[in-house]
Amino acid sequence: MSNYKICVLPGDGIGVDVVDAAIKVLDTVGFSNQVEYLYGDIGWEFWKTEGNPLPDRTIDLLKESNCALFGAITSKPKEEADAELDPRFKNKGLIYFSPIVKLRQLFDLYINLRPCKAYLGNPLNYRDDIDLVVFRENTEGLYSGVEWHPVPEAVMKAFIENHPRAKRFGDFALEDLAISTRIFTRKGVKRILKASMEYANEFGYKTVTVVEKPNVIRETSGLMVREARTLIKNYPSLELWETNIDAMAMWLIKNPQDYGLLVTSNMFGDIISDEAAQLVGGLGFARSGNIGDNMAVFEPTHGSAPKYVGQNKVNPIATILAAKMMLDWLNEKEMAQQVEQAVAEVIKEGNARTYDMGGNTSTTGMADAICSRIEKS
Ligand code: NAI
Ligand code: MG
Repeated sequence: MSNYKICVLPGDGIGVDVVDAAIKVLDTVGFSNQVEYLYGDIGWEFWKTEGNPLPDRTIDLLKESNCALFGAITSKPKEEADAELDPRFKNKGLIYFSPIVKLRQLFDLYINLRPCKAYLGNPLNYRDDIDLVVFRENTEGLYSGVEWHPVPEAVMKAFIENHPRAKRFGDFALEDLAISTRIFTRKGVKRILKASMEYANEFGYKTVTVVEKPNVIRETSGLMVREARTLIKNYPSLELWETNIDAMAMWLIKNPQDYGLLVTSNMFGDIISDEAAQLVGGLGFARSGNIGDNMAVFEPTHGSAPKYVGQNKVNPIATILAAKMMLDWLNEKEMAQQVEQAVAEVIKEGNARTYDMGGNTSTTGMADAICSRIEKS
């Protein structure tokens, strides 16, 4: 009998190769014996052929599943999206949307968790002693999509009537104004802060750094920092650090080893997590979890890398470590530990290295190397 239903969404391009590699590792560690994998359709192919990159049948599969492992999708600008759409769906007002962004909203996956850890022996490490985790708010802030161009008259009027600093924009023509909002809710702020502090506690991080800019963005960043100061009182073993986003970008280069857990809003988290990931090997190693209260989607953060399609060449470690995060989330700690240990040992030995690490091991070759470490352990 299977204990879990896992939705597997390989997606486009190299998404297929890296997800295959991760499933191979999950087979070897003994996870697949207790799992029913539900393979789902997602991505550009389904936009082209059905006018929908996230078909309803995939959403149904996700609803049946405990969580999902996602590879990568291709997305292209508006003109290409229209041009490649099957003629049957043209001129029907269909608009391409990012299926991964939609998944985050649909399942309220409010945490974007990105561990950035230096594995010893990785030639791409900036330093060997980095072990930090970024918690990025995933559903609100500057990426909520509440924005206007041109700005509707009623909106502009409301701004001018209600905010003294909006007056100076009143002289502009509405088509010469663009507004993107940065909306925080107390609920949104509290739940990401709480999740980050719980995680720091569970995984032994000593500090939680709230990364905002409350001296300038006084209301939204201010709300986040004030809530952090209140919540941290529930975690006596944790220390709260407050760092402005611009300074954080610098400190991450200067002394990333000093940081444990970083928690921040949507756009700041997007940027800072890419920077942090690059310090420990970049796209071949960067993985993330989109996590809600009852659902989660784990993925490498890279895209479909069209230039490497069909070459069995890219690094599967990001996806294998995303699968490890999935095991942790399912509370399969022992298997999670075995996978991570095997990855760490293979990197340390240095015999198997994909092209980004300066070697010529293939995607399947890297998966095989990790599987044989697991078999030996
Ligand atoms: P990309 O992440 O697909 O690739 C950029 C470059 O990074 C590749 O050409 C390759 O040199 C390197 N790279 C990526 N993954 C690697 C791996 N596992 N091992 C070694 N090297 C790796 O980003 P790009 O080229 O900007 O986008 C390609 C497509 O992917 C676009 O259609 C884009 O919209 C989509 N995309 C999808 C994402 C997702 O599904 N979450 C995220 C980012 C981009
Ligand atoms: Mg990003």
